[in-house]
Amino acid sequence: MIRLVYFSTARADVHRGEVDRIVAHAVEKNRALGITGALGFNGRNFCQVLEGPDAAVHDLVTAIEADPRHSGFKILDEKEIAKPHFADWSMQLVDNLDFSPVINLIDD
Ligand SMILES: Cc1cc2nc3c(=O)[nH]c(=O)nc-3n(C[C@H](O)[C@H](O)[C@H](O)COP(=O)(O)O)c2cc1C
Repeated sequence: MIRLVYFSTARADVHRGEVDRIVAHAVEKNRALGITGALGFNGRNFCQVLEGPDAAVHDLVTAIEADPRHSGFKILDEKEIAKPHFADWSMQLVDNLDFSPVINLIDD
């Protein structure tokens, strides 16, 4: 099992309503894939943590990186983990200027 954290910049016309749609879709799809995590959105940038089986996370990250709703995709951290931090969340939206709930996991 791995945990991956990335940072990106939302396309200028991507606002909260679109992010809600992304999360609603992610909640269903991630649950089916055995992936958990959180998506931080501060109105301009995304910071997402994805946890789950290696291949499932890598395939999903490939799809997310190609999504035209953001750019400047940069992986900040990727590591093996024994158990998921966001076990109860297939995708939790952290709608906050403060990305620390996601970023602090890099030191975990
Ligand atoms: C910032 C961002 C985060 C995303 N996170 C997820 C995610 O956690 N799970 C997911 O399935 N799709 C996520 N997506 C959407 C994917 O890029 C893609 O649209 C989706 O996986 C396509 O699913 P489908 O082929 O089943 O329609 C995200 C998109 C963006 C822009």
